[in-house]
Amino acid sequence: MKALVTGASSGIGRDMAVYLGELGYDLILVSRDENRLKETASKIKTNVTIYPVDLSGMDNCFKLYDKFKDEDIDLLVNGAGFGLFGNTWETDINKEMKMIDVNIKCLHILTKLFLQDMVKKDKGRILNIASSAGFLSGPGLNTYYATKNYVTKWTMAIYEELRKIKSNVHISCLCPGPVNTNFNKVAGGSFTVKGLSSEYVAKYGIDKCLKNKLIIIPGTMIKIGLFVNRFSPYKLSLRVVHHIQSMKKKGNG
Ligand SMILES: NC(=O)c1ccc[n+]([C@@H]2O[C@H](COP(=O)([O-])OP(=O)(O)OC[C@H]3O[C@@H](n4cnc5c(N)ncnc54)[C@H](OP(=O)(O)O)[C@@H]3O)[C@@H](O)[C@H]2O)c1
Repeated sequence: MKALVTGASSGIGRDMAVYLGELGYDLILVSRDENRLKETASKIKTNVTIYPVDLSGMDNCFKLYDKFKDEDIDLLVNGAGFGLFGNTWETDINKEMKMIDVNIKCLHILTKLFLQDMVKKDKGRILNIASSAGFLSGPGLNTYYATKNYVTKWTMAIYEELRKIKSNVHISCLCPGPVNTNFNKVAGGSFTVKGLSSEYVAKYGIDKCLKNKLIIIPGTMIKIGLFVNRFSPYKLSLRVVHHIQSMKKKGNG
């Protein structure tokens, strides 16, 4: 068994890679930071290849696919991603364009190219790491929430396309709330609610993915929150989320 994991140098992607190693998967670890990829690799006992690359470059995403397309990947985990706190008129547009490149375009390219091969072979699975943000609008962390909406909606539609042709290929979407990783440091904010551990979320996500679950939401509070949100008026939901993001930005948690 072989898995390719992007975002494998840190947080959820790293912990998924380590857990997949424990399950017996050989691994291809992808992100920019070669040293941290080596650190992840040192925790894994199965065969590991590291591939340091900036996934905000679209050419790099195509090259990544070309490099590993013949490796018979059983599981693709699209874990690379980041956010940026701030009001929409204040945040750095260049960082946001890179965010769209990594969170949306890279995930789109890798999912689509590996999916084409998997459908031909009628085997394989893909786990896209979205977020609970993928079901909400996110004033204060707006572009990030919007990118994750793309991931949830796009992944759900693929699930239905695969179901319709009775494919043995499976696709899942992990939608956690706050998780204790480098995310806040990179995004320039802090959580007001207690985050789940990255190890727990990683293991939970992989276990549910291997059971062919479409939407995977770790943690009871987030499950309840998202359920209640479905029946809440839009403007109330916006106020609640904005309040949470504003508090995050000030670090009042
Ligand atoms: N933490 C949370 O609260 C939370 C909640 C829900 C969803 N998520 C999602 O979970 C995923 C993993 O995030 P995390 O929380 O584990 O954060 P993290 O610890 O900051 O990890 C992010 C990973 O993405 C990689 N990455 C970022 N930009 C990249 C680029 N341009 N090219 C290649 N790799 C890049 C980073 O590697 P390098 O820096 O080495 O490139 C790192 O391995 C993300 O998609 C995030 O949106 C996080």
